Amino acid sequence: MREELLRAGASPAEEAEETTLRPRRLAEFVGQPALREHLEIVLGAARQRGQAADHLLFAGPPGLGKTTLAGIVAAEMGVGFRITSGPALERSGDLAAILTNLDEGDVLFIDEIHRLHRIVEEVLYPAMEDFCLDIVIGKGPSARSIRLDLPRFTLVGATTRTGLITGPLRDRFGFVARLDYYDTADLEAVVLRAARILGVELEPEGAAEIGVRSRGTPRIANRLLRLVRDFAEVRADGVVTGVVAREALRLFEVDERGLDKVDRGILTALCRTFGGAPVGLSTLAVSVGEEPETVEDVYEPYLLKEGFLQRTPRGRVATAAAFAHLGVAPPADGAAPDTASLFDG
Ligand SMILES: Nc1ncnc2c1ncn2[C@@H]1O[C@H](COP(=O)(O)OP(=O)(O)OP(=O)(O)O)[C@@H](O)[C@H]1O
Ligand SMILES: [Mg+2]
Repeated sequence: MREELLRAGASPAEEAEETTLRPRRLAEFVGQPALREHLEIVLGAARQRGQAADHLLFAGPPGLGKTTLAGIVAAEMGVGFRITSGPALERSGDLAAILTNLDEGDVLFIDEIHRLHRIVEEVLYPAMEDFCLDIVIGKGPSARSIRLDLPRFTLVGATTRTGLITGPLRDRFGFVARLDYYDTADLEAVVLRAARILGVELEPEGAAEIGVRSRGTPRIANRLLRLVRDFAEVRADGVVTGVVAREALRLFEVDERGLDKVDRGILTALCRTFGGAPVGLSTLAVSVGEEPETVEDVYEPYLLKEGFLQRTPRGRVATAAAFAHLGVAPPADGAAPDTASLFDG
């Protein structure tokens, strides 16, 4: 059950509730002030010119608000919103069908755009750049190519892996935004907002308790809120106070730094199994039973940001903070670097 609770991606049941909790307008979107300001300018200018906004790419770990922002772009522009994803577009015809059905100004959202098949991606280039589609009709010597004009649309792409976006695709986005982990104050604001919508009585101390344990991620903050609400209903009078939140999260073994089972598994492997020595990504992934890409995209960024892990040319190493967090004595020979002394990653 804990894995279910702390996993970064959304479960199908959760997706329905996420729709309710998803901010619809930029003004409701909590945190990420720089990104919000940039979007206000980009979208405001397009609106003033009466044109479709530039193509936008949102990158960052799961649950930080990429899909939410895509919907907000459409709402702020007052246009239609079409959703698809990289893996769902198997043939170039799948994309062509969607593109030719767009209305002028529509937002087309392609989730997991890094997983787009190469042949599909090639259809996207002229569509993004010149708003046209080259179609080959017939086969063999009689085949001819015709060019179809498309409505002006805004492509919004989302990816957890900026590194996997090809250069030509990336270059066709007018605006690339990276979403960062949220700070505790923002996560408190996220859960207070969600509590209002869900009708949960959440006291500020309860919100603070959830905020610090949400792994910098609004999706996890909302998930912990539901969990704490359930606990408050069964074991208390339904009000989420600081004490109730702390009790609930202790019961469900949510770490006070928000680390989940895999995060802790990674640190345990580095500190205990490998005794503080540098470990290669694939070895580390095997030791926690995850794909190397998942470790790299989903887990490492948060551990890096929190100063528990470092990347060095020889591999990943745990920091002194990681040893302290796990309550493991660091190796006596000083193999565990402290955050300040190691800067070769
Ligand atoms: N800035 C925010 N303010 C308030 N709520 C937010 C914010 N960002 C995300 N959320 C909440 O977190 C949930 C997850 O966000 P979203 O689905 O947009 O993440 P994502 O980046 O698309 O994740 P994935 O990579 O898994 O697709 C949303 O349902 C929403 O309720
Ligand atoms: Mg999403």
